[in-house]
Amino acid sequence: MALTEKQEVLVKESWEILQQNVPEYSIRFYQRIMEVAPEAKNLFSFLRDSDEIPQNNPNLQAHATKVFKLTCESVIQLRERGAVTIEDSTMKHLGSLHLKIGVTDRHFDVVRDALLRTIEGTVGEKWSKEMEGAWGTGYDQLAAAIQAAMKDGA
Ligand code: HEM
Repeated sequence: MALTEKQEVLVKESWEILQQNVPEYSIRFYQRIMEVAPEAKNLFSFLRDSDEIPQNNPNLQAHATKVFKLTCESVIQLRERGAVTIEDSTMKHLGSLHLKIGVTDRHFDVVRDALLRTIEGTVGEKWSKEMEGAWGTGYDQLAAAIQAAMKDGA
């Protein structure tokens, strides 16, 4: 799906809002992942040993932020170049890491849903189908690149 200039603007605007609410959105993101896929808890070093999602945990916030930021950057690249281009060494690293951890295709769907619902909950009435389509497309391309790198590493 091609992205419009307006969709790029919508993603950048929502990313600004998210960045002002990192502790809140990162908790919301993992809450959603845990609701839909409780078994994924043990994959995350920062969730494994606690019964609750820890507040103010720097590792938790860092992972959430990386997923959102890379997705946002993918949207911008898709608009500018028509493809997601991530440095080879970074892709290899992400591929082998997620493969080693045991992340499955279903987990990628769960994280997609959690990402979109988190943005919806954080931006409130600014949320729209157009915004959803843009974040969703960026995520799909990025996830496909990581999944391809995982298969290469298998
Ligand atoms: C770690 C990105 C999807 C689980 C990481 C790291 C990055 C990243 C950048 C840190 C790498 C490092 O520390 O060197 C992404 C992106 C995703 C994605 C961009 C989707 C497009 C997923 C999915 C799962 C997952 C679907 C499984 C539910 C993990 C885990 C770690 C990790 C468990 C290690 C975190 C820790 O325990 O500290 N990911 N990831 N990721 N990712 Fe992902």
